[in-house]
Formats: sequence, structure tokens, C-alpha cells
Amino acid sequence: MENRVHNFNPGPATLPLPVLKEIKENFLNFSDSGMSIVETSHRSPLFDDVLNDAVNRTKRLLNLDKNYHVLFIQGGASLQFCMIPMNLALPGRPLNFINTGTWSTKAIKEAQIQGKDVRVIASSEDKDFSYLPHDYTVDKQASYLHFTSNNTIRGTQWQQFPNGEDIPLISDMSSDFMSRPIDIKPFGLVYAGAQKNIGPSGIAMVIIREDMLERVPNTLPTMLKYTTYKDNGSLFNTPPTFAIYVIDLVLTWLEETVGGLKKIEQINKQKASLIYDVIDKSDIYHGTTEVNSRSLMNITFRLPDKKTEELFLAEATQNGLHGLKGHKSVGGCRASLYNAISIDSVTALVTFMQEFEKKSI
Ligand SMILES: Cc1ncc(COP(=O)(O)O)c(C=O)c1O
Repeated sequence: MENRVHNFNPGPATLPLPVLKEIKENFLNFSDSGMSIVETSHRSPLFDDVLNDAVNRTKRLLNLDKNYHVLFIQGGASLQFCMIPMNLALPGRPLNFINTGTWSTKAIKEAQIQGKDVRVIASSEDKDFSYLPHDYTVDKQASYLHFTSNNTIRGTQWQQFPNGEDIPLISDMSSDFMSRPIDIKPFGLVYAGAQKNIGPSGIAMVIIREDMLERVPNTLPTMLKYTTYKDNGSLFNTPPTFAIYVIDLVLTWLEETVGGLKKIEQINKQKASLIYDVIDKSDIYHGTTEVNSRSLMNITFRLPDKKTEELFLAEATQNGLHGLKGHKSVGGCRASLYNAISIDSVTALVTFMQEFEKKSI
């Protein structure tokens, strides 16, 4: 109808169609103001409503306790890799990390650059990050334990989060944020680049527990302190207003049309199992991760050789199935099944995969 493809991009990724239509329909005259949202002051009541709505929906969707703050911070998830150690490392107390791939590795590097006492307490690098390590001991004195909840490139996802004992957990949830309910209590901070499940790129949502804010050193530059964002309601400077507006629309869709996180989790499980079923029964598709570490968001698989993979990707594109190429660092194929991917798109991919296999044998 709208000439839209089945979009399996890993991020920026597909957004819910009703959200895109709403943006289009109301772009020139947002909320009867005679202006578009991008022409509206970030200090106007109009934008206040948008920002507050996004914050309140986040609190409801994630069932956040009162002692958690929802912040919007420019610079995507990558800026968080450096802001977290800068703000939350306690003097003389090590930082614990679990390394499950590229994004954890980058977070570790940013803490090391700052000269922090970084301890990688577990890693799956020995098997090319194809599994999640469960054998680790958290330092009793650790400032926090950092892990990546879903490894976008490798296709692994923690179904049960690591146990930090009493050490605050910090998680990069960029690629599975708002895809399932979470118990927030063990977390000191959760962050997510928006461009997978909740909106456009260039902005991160940060959820931080009140007690973590006490750690923020006064010596940090203003824009790099979590307290600046908390004290000013994410409005210290001019925030990316359009991105926040889109996030609010996506969260509205998630809450009101889908029916919340339990509902989207069910749908996400159903979508992923349709593709994993094809892989598990196949002679030509091979999953790249251990079965019990598999991600519901990013399904990574290989075909017998590079030539067949290239043919698979080319024919998929011809059939309107886009964004299936694996990350450049690992190759292969990857289907990203974020919240906004419809069952129809998944079914189209299943049919294509089955037909491609029949033809190739
Ligand atoms: C798990 C994870 N963390 C961090 C990032 C980096 O996000 P950004 O580009 O917003 O800095 C990505 C991007 O794909 C990601 O998948």
C-alpha cells in the first residue's frame, strides 16, 4: 500500500506504521499550534506535554518505582559508555564487566581510557561471543556490574539477567529495551540508544536510580553529569525535540495499541520462534549462537558459503525483504525483529527462507 518494504534493519530500524503516519499527518500543524514540532520551543507547554508524556509512559510501561528517573541524553548509547564510569565509579572500588561482544568491549574500553580499575569478570570471547557466560564472581567491592542485555551483532540475549548480588547492575539495553517487562530493582542504571525499539538515532534514554546520583563528581563538565539532566528535566540545553516526540508516539503505540510489555513480549517470542523453527529444521541455515543464549531481537545465521549468502541476500532484497545482512565485523545474515516488525513481515521472511532452501537443495 505505502510501498514499504519488510525492514529487518538492525538500527536505525523500522518504526510502527501508525507512528509514521501520525508524524506525516500532523507535521505541518502540530497539535493545532500552526507550527511543526521541530519549530516549537523546547520550553513551550506544548513540548513540555510531549516530554512529560514520554517520561510518564516509560514509568508506567516499565513499572518504575518512584526512586527512578527517566532522562533523555544526546549522543546515543556510545556516550553512555563513557558517562557511566565518569559518573558512577566509586573511588577505590573496581568496575565489573561481562564481555559478550562488540558493544560490551566498547563500554570496557571507555572505562579503561579513563584509567578506572576495570575487571572483566566473565567473557565469551573464547568462542567468538556465541554464548553468554554464566560462570563468574562479582567483586564484593565493585562500584557496579555492567552487561549488555542483548548483543545486536552476535545475536545473544540474557533471558535471565546476571546476578549482581548486592552490587548495582548497569545494562546497555539498546537493542531489547521495551521488548519485555523487566524487574528494575537490581538496576542502578539502564540505558538504550533509541534507534532500535523506541525511535530515531542520536539519543539515549537513561533510567537512573536516585542513590546513583549521589555518586556524580562535582568536577565533571556540566553536560556530562547525570545530575544536570535530572535537575533540569532533560532540558538543560535544547534537546533533540523531534526524537523525543517520535519516542513519545512509539511509547503511546506500545502502551495503547499493543497493550504493554507483557503483550509485546508474547508477540516477540512468537515472531522469533517462527524464524528459529526454520533454522532448526533446515539443512542450509545454521544459527551462530548456542541455543540457550539466543536472542529474540536479532537472529543471526549463516548459509553454507559466502556465495550462497550473497545470493540469499540479493534475492531477499528482490522480494522486498531488506536489512538482512549480518554486521560487517562478522558477516553472515541477521534478521532484526524489533517491536515494530509485524508478524506479516516475519511470515514473508519464513516463506522466502523455505523457498530459497527448496530451490538450493
Ligand atoms: C547494544 C548496543 N549498544 C550500543 C550501540 C551504539 O549505539 P549508538 O550508535 O546510539 O551510540 C548499539 C548500536 O547498534 C547497540 O546495538
